Amino acid sequence: MRKPKIFALVGGICRDSLSRKLFNIFKEQSSQLMEFDFFDLSALPFFSQDIEYDPPQAVEDFKNLIRASDGILVVTPEYNRSFPGALKNALDWGSRPTGQCLWSGKPAGLIGTSPGALGTFGAQAQLRQVLSFLDMRIMNQPEFYLQFPRELENGKLPVSTRDFLQRYIEKFQDWVKSHMSE
Ligand SMILES: Cc1cc2nc3c(=O)[nH]c(=O)nc-3n(C[C@H](O)[C@H](O)[C@H](O)COP(=O)(O)O)c2cc1C
Repeated sequence: MRKPKIFALVGGICRDSLSRKLFNIFKEQSSQLMEFDFFDLSALPFFSQDIEYDPPQAVEDFKNLIRASDGILVVTPEYNRSFPGALKNALDWGSRPTGQCLWSGKPAGLIGTSPGALGTFGAQAQLRQVLSFLDMRIMNQPEFYLQFPRELENGKLPVSTRDFLQRYIEKFQDWVKSHMSE
């Protein structure tokens, strides 16, 4: 079977995003197992029903990456115990127009890191509600909450965290593959 193609939704859009650093490590550590597409979510306009039937090219490009994917990896920051607007906006775009939701049936993984002690627990808990409403097949276990380790500033992870991430990666690959063969 070919390597699964994963579309990564990275909710951090700032220049030095911690979520982006975590995604880069995820990608590097899983390059033998999966392929990734990435889209800068700040290129999407705010969703409006005024433009949902005739959206700008950036939205079409974004939707094509969802269509081409075998699975979705969501890397979320935590904003005020929830997930950021950029991520919600992207999820809303992929869900519309009515009856044309592109997320439906997609296997999904959810990870995140933040300087706070709960390591994006609040953001992920709220995201799970939205992803299940969108009929995505979210991997329930293992979970991945990470209090941002200092080493990640330089694009590295402590060995114990790398092992933790590796277990997540292997389970996620199995999860996506099990849906590819359905
Ligand atoms: C508006 C805002 C709200 C935040 N709220 C939380 C929070 O509830 N919990 C937390 O752990 N960190 C919080 N933070 C800190 C973020 O975790 C931190 O800025 C992180 O770098 C954001 O992820 P990113 O770098 O990928 O954008 C908040 C940051 C901002 C800008």
